[in-house]
Amino acid sequence: MPNSLIRPSLLSLDGHQPLSIRARAMVFNDPQSLHLIDYVEKIAPRDVPVLIFGETGTGKELIARHIHQLSGRAGPFLAVNCGAITESLSESEFFGHEKGAFTGATTTHKGWFEAAQGGTLFLDEIGDLPLALQVKLLRVLQEREIVRIGSTKPIALDVRLLTGTNVDLQSAVQASRFRSDLLYRINIAQVTLPPLRERPGDILPLAKHFIDMYAARMDIESPELTDAAKQRLLSYWWPGNIRELENVIHFALLVSPQGKMDVSHLKLTPDTAQQPSVPQSASSQATTSPVSSPAIGSASEAVSKGLLASERLAANVRELMTCSEGFSLAEFEHLVTREAYQICHGNQVQTASLLGVSRNVVRTLLKRYGLL
Ligand SMILES: Nc1ncnc2c1ncn2[C@@H]1O[C@H](COP(=O)(O)OP(=O)(O)OP(=O)(O)O)[C@@H](O)[C@H]1O
Ligand SMILES: [Mg+2]
Repeated sequence: MPNSLIRPSLLSLDGHQPLSIRARAMVFNDPQSLHLIDYVEKIAPRDVPVLIFGETGTGKELIARHIHQLSGRAGPFLAVNCGAITESLSESEFFGHEKGAFTGATTTHKGWFEAAQGGTLFLDEIGDLPLALQVKLLRVLQEREIVRIGSTKPIALDVRLLTGTNVDLQSAVQASRFRSDLLYRINIAQVTLPPLRERPGDILPLAKHFIDMYAARMDIESPELTDAAKQRLLSYWWPGNIRELENVIHFALLVSPQGKMDVSHLKLTPDTAQQPSVPQSASSQATTSPVSSPAIGSASEAVSKGLLASERLAANVRELMTCSEGFSLAEFEHLVTREAYQICHGNQVQTASLLGVSRNVVRTLLKRYGLL
């Protein structure tokens, strides 16, 4: 095993990518990450479903693509964000429909499962899948076939299913938001991506990788990070993980003069009130033995963070209500949405998890109250 890995991208851009992904290479340097990628490469060729757990921006989709590439499957990789699908059309989006199956079905349509035939389907934010669809997904996994809406003819499937989540699905099962039988089916193997703050050995190599990548795109020389900038990158909490680091570096390149990238060029969120005093490594258990671990990744961490955030939300809302003379229900909804969104530093997925609704609902609320 080498000390550090920078993997060139093998991604084939197949035109089926509802989710955006920009990296062209993967960087792993921290011992935890090296251990993790070793494990991922062991399970990738085995034809089992894999549940990928990790905070937002930790690289779940990147890992899903890597698993697909190493699986030897000739078909396409298709990534679908379950938090962004419309509830009314989702069944047809998953399983397809025949012409005339319902009003507006003017042509026959292949669903995502058929589109991923021979390849891999990655369902990100699987916790957002409506319960009705969970039942149908379970049946598809058991029968290994689908039936388009408006048809009676089953179509045999050869699709590997990968799923992603940044919420604790075990809690979702306890709250009756997720089916336990579906969880068992999708969780044959699991990969837990630690948050960036728990793999500090990745921070500077990733920063260098993004500097080089964006400098090449901007056709400029890569600037050097000053010692102060390196220290700041290493001490920051990275609530948005690798995606946040990528954005911070991209922005810093735009504002830094050629040659040096200093601490003043790094646009980091000042409020680190949510930073745990001792970083919890609940994920490390699963990274050493993800398959045998019965719990899903950092379940306890997710629960404790959820509690912290919900306590803050309750306190803020209580305080604001005491200062006001009266509330309509809509004003209350506005207040709760705004506070939750602020507590989650503008992260829609975390806001959805804090409020116990889907990302779609959060987006609707944010738009309704002009918060987007
Ligand atoms: N090891 C890595 N090396 C290089 N780039 C990475 C690595 N991990 C993640 N990235 C980059 O970070 C960004 C976020 O990764 P990705 O979209 O896979 O995260 P995610 O966990 O799926 O996020 P979300 O929860 O928001 O869906 C992408 O641009 C990705 O290419
Ligand atoms: Mg993702």
